[in-house]
Amino acid sequence: MQIKNICCIGAGYVGGPTMAVIAYKCPDIQVNVVDLNEDRISRWNDKNLEKLPIFEPGLAEIVSKCRGKNLHFSNEVNQKISNSDMVFISVNTPTKKYGLGAGKASDLKWVEACARQVANNATGYTIVVEKSTLPVRTAEVIKSILEASKKDSKDSSAKTFDVLSNPEFLAEGTAINDLLNPDRVLIGGENSLSIDALSSIYSRWVVKEKILHTNIWSSELAKLTANAFLAQRISSINAIGALCEATGADVREVSRAIGSDSRIGPKFLDSGPGFGGSCFKKDILNLVYLCEYFGLDEVASFWESVVTLNNWHQTRISKLITKKLFGTISSKKIIILGFAFKGNTNDTRESAAIQICRDLINEGAYLFIHDPKVTKDQITKDLEVKPLDQNIEENSFNEKGSWKHITDINESLFDADAIVILTEWEEYKNLDWDLAESRMRKPAWVFDTRSIIDANSIKKYNFQFWRVGDGS
Ligand code: UDX
Ligand code: UDX
Repeated sequence: MQIKNICCIGAGYVGGPTMAVIAYKCPDIQVNVVDLNEDRISRWNDKNLEKLPIFEPGLAEIVSKCRGKNLHFSNEVNQKISNSDMVFISVNTPTKKYGLGAGKASDLKWVEACARQVANNATGYTIVVEKSTLPVRTAEVIKSILEASKKDSKDSSAKTFDVLSNPEFLAEGTAINDLLNPDRVLIGGENSLSIDALSSIYSRWVVKEKILHTNIWSSELAKLTANAFLAQRISSINAIGALCEATGADVREVSRAIGSDSRIGPKFLDSGPGFGGSCFKKDILNLVYLCEYFGLDEVASFWESVVTLNNWHQTRISKLITKKLFGTISSKKIIILGFAFKGNTNDTRESAAIQICRDLINEGAYLFIHDPKVTKDQITKDLEVKPLDQNIEENSFNEKGSWKHITDINESLFDADAIVILTEWEEYKNLDWDLAESRMRKPAWVFDTRSIIDANSIKKYNFQFWRVGDGS
């Protein structure tokens, strides 16, 4: 079966880049990305590529090549569904805030809404692809909604559906490269016709051996498991980092030593401020919920401890900063470098910076927050604290903490007590330390939670230096 028209519901961090790459690699396929959010769509259509709603290295170039040719962004959800042979569901699946499974289970209301939209608007044979990360057996929910619509329809032969699971493994900040060179593409399904149709799209640029076929439930579970394993490695190394600090070891040396064991491997062993991002916490909690549901309480608590450790680690860092600054940071000026959950993205979902900054503000600190891609509005939403007036006199700081958004790090250094690096942006690797030394109040602290500063070269300056996992 030859796919000619694709519709993707959800123009977010997953849907947008994934569809841009499919359009780029398949010029003969028309790709329509639809979303309920009008502002988001108008930003995807903005002539100024700087205004795309998502920052990803390489994304703007691909969008500029394909947009208007075979890549289209619109709010016409129903119409685009009706013209498509294949519909991807790539909407968000946040953790439920209330009701059954609150705090753990995924809220599937958007996925359900999409399934209903597809059921109502599809024509002919339509392949529905789950792109969102979903709890195991969600495909069944989608299928039953689609099947019910067939029974409703007067001419049931006019509509037929197949459901596939095709989870996305891209990481933000490297999304385009991950999509162009995936370790594997996973397709779960039952019907070989639809599996082959989807495989033939990826096979334009991915070798056959890397396109894995499984049953639909294995595919859904593999996605949750991959994220749980990755997050588990970070909690493991952050736990060992705390022990390194206590014992005089260095977590970077431990990582190198264990990572060179080919069974362990070197990736995902960087101790940091704690993992963030929209997926890890949500997906682990989802797994925990599933295990509890099936009565596997020990398995559930094993995975839940990965999240518990991560929360503890973030709080550990904010407490440690307070302790180093003589146990009080009230009215002290602290420069925060980085607010995104990792480098090369403007995404702040579950960023460790949110918890750490909130803790420091609650202790009375004045934070001067910098991030090359995260806006002041986004930081305000995340912290739920209004920023200070940009022109406030620094000598009028009182005991109630607050924050200010800065764009010029050097101009903000005067009388600062500490610099805290929370995101590994390239530009933070080469700060002007001469200037920082001359402008900051002594003793001045530098806290590097990302190990991006060269520990030897900073020694020659008059700073107190702390970096994660360094007990030496
Ligand atoms: C993705 C996945 O889909 C999610 O399951 C995974 O765990 C995290 O990554 P992401 O692309 O990051 O989500 O989400 P987001 O950037 O919030 O984009 C989702 C988009 O779907 C939003 O733009 C939202 O407006 C849109 N949406 C949501 C719809 O168009 N229709 C809906 O019914 C619901
Ligand atoms: C993750 C998965 O990697 C990806 O496969 C899945 O599709 C979505 O979830 P993402 O959250 O975008 O991707 O980024 P990732 O690179 O995995 O980083 C997640 C968090 O872990 C970030 O806060 C990052 O800084 C942190 N991290 C990562 C570490 O602290 N140490 C590491 O060694 C690696």
